[in-house]
Amino acid sequence: KKGGFGRFRTRFARGVLFVVVAGAGTFIYFTQKDLYPGTQLDQDPKKKTVVVLGNGWGATSFLKQLDNEEYNVVVISPRNYFLFSPLLPSVTVGTLEARSIIQPTRFITRHKKRKVAVYEAEATDVDPINKTVTIEDNSELTATSSKVTIPYDYLVYAVGAENQTFGIKGVKEYACFLKELKDADRIRRKLLDCIETAAFAGQTEEEIERLMHMVVVGGGPTGVEYAGELHDFLIDDLRKWYPEIADKLRITLIEALPNVLPAFSKQLIQYTESTFKENKIDVLTRTMVKDVREKSVVVQDANKEIKEIPYGLLVWATGNTSREITRNLMAKLPEHQTQRRGLVVDGHMRLAGAPEIFALGDCTATSYAPTAQAASQQGTYLARTFAKMAQAEKLKEQLAEMREKAPGDDVERTVKRLNKALDLPPFHYSHQGSLAYIGSEKAIADLPFFNGNFASGGVATYLFWRSAYVSTLYSARNRTLVILDWMKVKIFGRYVEIPL
Ligand code: FAD
Ligand code: NAI
Repeated sequence: KKGGFGRFRTRFARGVLFVVVAGAGTFIYFTQKDLYPGTQLDQDPKKKTVVVLGNGWGATSFLKQLDNEEYNVVVISPRNYFLFSPLLPSVTVGTLEARSIIQPTRFITRHKKRKVAVYEAEATDVDPINKTVTIEDNSELTATSSKVTIPYDYLVYAVGAENQTFGIKGVKEYACFLKELKDADRIRRKLLDCIETAAFAGQTEEEIERLMHMVVVGGGPTGVEYAGELHDFLIDDLRKWYPEIADKLRITLIEALPNVLPAFSKQLIQYTESTFKENKIDVLTRTMVKDVREKSVVVQDANKEIKEIPYGLLVWATGNTSREITRNLMAKLPEHQTQRRGLVVDGHMRLAGAPEIFALGDCTATSYAPTAQAASQQGTYLARTFAKMAQAEKLKEQLAEMREKAPGDDVERTVKRLNKALDLPPFHYSHQGSLAYIGSEKAIADLPFFNGNFASGGVATYLFWRSAYVSTLYSARNRTLVILDWMKVKIFGRYVEIPL
């Protein structure tokens, strides 16, 4: 016979079992439900066409929130997935697998009420007068590059930005950027190639030192996070599998300004710089890269001296500049588009000079930093705006009918509702804080706290960083894969082989 404690233990075990089974059941139900979307309404020629350029943070947030019953939506982007960029630096060293941080765009559009057309293509031209977009399919399978022109009633322009090089010679030729998945893959291959080549028989000491010198240009969050990830790879994996040369690996971060991370608070800048010092990451501040050669970078240091620094891998992270298609669009509206930084929009994100175009995210010149946070809030705002516009459209039709039949109280009420629908508040950005990973399981966070700022750095912040990003990942699939990747790295380490 079981005593009181024994009975409690059995009940407790049953309770735990129930919670686990119920949790697993719910998880499986929702993930499977998501995998089998239902039927959708067909596109309706009577409805307005909304063309969305891009499927990054701004466009995806817009698509996710948009009620598309009243619109025919067409999405155009050269890639067919949404990329969760904040975790991209982790892909460069194999902490995370590429698939874990992407979400197919068709998964998103198949869950909308009305069918959405998705084209994997690059928009090459926007004609704001005739309201058309020219798109080009660059697939190798297309015999001749196929161009198509698509008309729009509204255009949601969210093509992001491209990498800034300041016209410095050799950057595009020799450096690796860190913006897209293919960049992370290129960095990873080049990094491991440098290490294998350095380990090859008969290399001179000088060549080993060059090959094992990884240089990062730009001390913004991209450069800092990459340097941190690279440091982790050295400590956790390189020393195990390449003990003969691992200690030759050097990381140098070059920054033109007096300190790294200019957008973070002073104490976090100091914390990052001292963590980097402990981790033997050389930070060269007040140092400007002037020229990039195949095996070295030419810099001007704080004393205005010119130096040549040999490198094996060069990662270039000096911020954003407008894409060619954006520059061309600006050139078509010279009176209104007067900022070099990006597209000028009003408070409702309508493009100055072309009110049927709504622009958001990194391609615009606003007062917000070019971040995922701002772009996704703008996407959500725009989806609400489109809902109001659809409502207003319907009310106008109702009103016309009512006025014909019998003017009266109903008309007054409808006019009031219409005015309310037309009264769109301007976009308001709400800053949720800035986070960055700096390596050795430490992160930094500047968080808004009442009317001030709460700055924190260290291991606890790293746990916060992880949970914040896991919860913002697009889907349950992404969250599961990222958590599994982290567990895999803890158990088996990062992989150092490159499958063909
Ligand atoms: P993007 O997300 O860049 O999307 C642009 C889209 O346009 C893409 O789908 C692209 O394929 C498509 N496109 C490009 N050219 C064309 C064309 N010609 N025709 C059609 N489509 C086109 N921000 C944060 O807030 N927090 C972070 O932690 C953070 N970490 C980052 C880490 C890295 C490594 C990087 C590079 C950026 C990070 N950012 C972060 C910044 C953030 O990624 C950007 O601000 C955000 O992606 C901007 O969103 P967007 O929609 O404007 O552009
Ligand atoms: P950035 O613009 O933030 O930083 C680029 C840095 O490169 C600057 O500090 C600049 O002084 C330096 N630089 C420019 N030219 C140079 C030269 N020739 N030599 C040496 N240094 C030079 O760019 P980054 O890091 O690519 O970020 C782009 C945007 O994405 C930012 O708005 C950033 O906030 C956001 N982002 C946010 C992240 C986060 O919140 N964790 C992570 C990554 C990006």
